[in-house]
Amino acid sequence: MTSPNSQTEELDDEYLRTIFIQGREYQQYSIDNQVSLEPVDEDEAERLELQHRIFSRVFDSRLIFPPIRHLRTVLDCGYGAGSWAIDVAEQNPDCEVIGVDIYPHMNPDDTPENLWLQVDDLNRPFTFSSNYFDLVHSRLLAAGINRARWPSYIRDIKRFSLDGGWVQMVEIYFNVQSDNGSINDGHALRQWSSHLIRSMEGIKDFRVGTRLKTLLIAAGFTEVDAKMIPLPLSAWPDNPTNRRIGAMNTENTIRLLASLSLYPLTQRLRMPQSQYHEIISRAQEEVDDQSLKAYFPLYVCIGRKPRH
Ligand SMILES: C[S@@+](CC[C@H](N)C(=O)[O-])C[C@H]1O[C@@H](n2cnc3c(N)ncnc32)[C@H](O)[C@@H]1O
Repeated sequence: MTSPNSQTEELDDEYLRTIFIQGREYQQYSIDNQVSLEPVDEDEAERLELQHRIFSRVFDSRLIFPPIRHLRTVLDCGYGAGSWAIDVAEQNPDCEVIGVDIYPHMNPDDTPENLWLQVDDLNRPFTFSSNYFDLVHSRLLAAGINRARWPSYIRDIKRFSLDGGWVQMVEIYFNVQSDNGSINDGHALRQWSSHLIRSMEGIKDFRVGTRLKTLLIAAGFTEVDAKMIPLPLSAWPDNPTNRRIGAMNTENTIRLLASLSLYPLTQRLRMPQSQYHEIISRAQEEVDDQSLKAYFPLYVCIGRKPRH
């Protein structure tokens, strides 16, 4: 489906081809062009849906953080399995929601009529009409947006936002943390994080969550508000809501450890399969060790395009 307000190109066969790497399915185009290095199979779509339900708990069922009174046009960058975009479209039937992703087949077949899903590479300049969106949403694109692209990606988001429109960005910093100092270099979770970040050095920026506020301000957004929320890996928090979030996040993290790092570690770092499996299974065991009080920092940032 093509929205009347987008000049994004029609679907091309090259975006549909997939390849298997060590049992997981990847988009051939993304691998060839080093765009998105995450699997695109059913397993990943299911995990993204689970992760969306976890975010829903973290954000107290709020999909949209900025105070927007009349939501008419929304862009979701890298919609993945479509969970956020579908919820926004269903809850706002008069709103035109456009989702863009490099891979078109992770979303369910049935989507709301006011949701238009399109294929495009967000590493290239946007092809929408300028000054169009009330809200642009970008969640978990660190493994897909090129390191050098971030400033112009955010400038593009601003250009295609309405005057007075908003951007909402969410990124996880996959460097495992613990405030009680119990995680050290001997832990597989720490080794997983450092291998993953190192594997992407030069092409992707896994620390981008920590820079969102600076990037939004540099692009000229105002009313910028940023927050770091610790996302517990297991049910260790005392607070019952956070304990429930941690409990839900255990399965997600166990699956994420394998899916996010398979290509980066085995293909980019050329880690032998046996070493990869050894790190993953030790890290998966540590996820459930509540004494570690492990979390990933989750960064949330909003900003507003000034009115002229
Ligand atoms: C980790 S998933 C997140 C999906 C969704 N935003 C969510 O929060 O559930 C990242 C998605 O972004 C897409 N993606 C990554 N890099 C992209 C790029 N350069 N252009 C378009 N889509 C991209 C991937 O194909 C994948 O569907």
